Amino acid sequence: MQQKLLEKFQELFGGEGDIRSYFSPGRVNLIGEHTDYNGGHVFPCALTIGTYGIARKREDRKIRFYSENFSRLGVFETSLDDLVYHEEANWTNYPKGVVWAFKEKGYVVDTGFDLVMNGNIPNGSGLSSSASVELLMGVILVDLFGFEGLSMIDLALLGQYAENKFNGMNCGIMDQFAIAMGKENQAIFLDTADLSYEYAPIEMKGAKIVIAASNKKRKLTDSKYNERRAECEEALADIQKQMDIKALGDLTEEQFEEVKDAVKNPVCRKRAKHAVYENQRTIKAVAALKAGDLETFGKLMNASHVSLRDDYEVTGKELDTLVEAAWKQEGVVGSRMTGAGFGGCTVSIVKEEAIDEFIKHVGEIYEKEIGYAADFYVVEIGDGSRRIG
Ligand code: GLA
Repeated sequence: MQQKLLEKFQELFGGEGDIRSYFSPGRVNLIGEHTDYNGGHVFPCALTIGTYGIARKREDRKIRFYSENFSRLGVFETSLDDLVYHEEANWTNYPKGVVWAFKEKGYVVDTGFDLVMNGNIPNGSGLSSSASVELLMGVILVDLFGFEGLSMIDLALLGQYAENKFNGMNCGIMDQFAIAMGKENQAIFLDTADLSYEYAPIEMKGAKIVIAASNKKRKLTDSKYNERRAECEEALADIQKQMDIKALGDLTEEQFEEVKDAVKNPVCRKRAKHAVYENQRTIKAVAALKAGDLETFGKLMNASHVSLRDDYEVTGKELDTLVEAAWKQEGVVGSRMTGAGFGGCTVSIVKEEAIDEFIKHVGEIYEKEIGYAADFYVVEIGDGSRRIG
């Protein structure tokens, strides 16, 4: 992919000068959903699929973007003097937002650049293609412009800042962190309360991670996501009248049960319940994995889905169909929706010898119930965003 993309770059923008190559992964979250903006724990990993980019610095203030994934939209041209969100700028609002975020934080890019990209993360699958692009842009800016003192965690925070303030999606830090800090065969146990983290080797004893993309057209995801976030904030504000906590992630299940009636709105109470229990489940799941107990890990994944379905209400018919079919399948250790929800994909841990049957049966049930096909991907855990040439 890298070589072909380089050829595309040369065709569009010419082959002279210092042309460099980069890669930024997608991510999948194994457990800990909708906890990252509640000061809880998450357990994602970076994937070996992601976004490739080829870039070269310019001498003027122009920026040119092109993506093979949106080839019909052609080349977008903008400039450092127009770091503003424009609807018609389409996907380029993501990388542009990062240039803007750098500037806001005092890392001012003084000349433009040309950038050609291509990603193999299935479109709209919920494997964080936007965060992948944000971190790709971050790594490129640091490499081309030599900003010193910016760590990979700083780049994750800049990516999140761009997504929140430039693109209007109030996401937490999980996606950008996982993509920036990914490590081959390791998942990241991250405490979003203080960004302390630890790598945990994923030893799956002959099982693999299988992603099922629902292919549901995602509408209103951002607004529903922002709505859930606001519901959690309302619950927290009610609890804070009785208890001195910073975030829902500070509570154990027992503490929540004692204080839950402080939350006036029953919908917000359910949302808070998910946030608290899911955080504790994530802590337990990682402990089980470390103890070599993959079975318990899988059961906690299943419980996570139930909570996202019943209390957090972010699954929907498509994801429920995929997960419920997976649960019935031989050789499935655990299965749940992953990411924001409302469409997107599920993550399952499946014994290697059962994967073919899994894909066949779950695929058939899905198509019969939903009316169109799901796509399946057996994925590997890879390294974070980086320069590759
Ligand atoms: C999206 C957001 C993340 C996280 C998940 C849900 O992927 O970008 O910050 O909140 O949803 O866990």
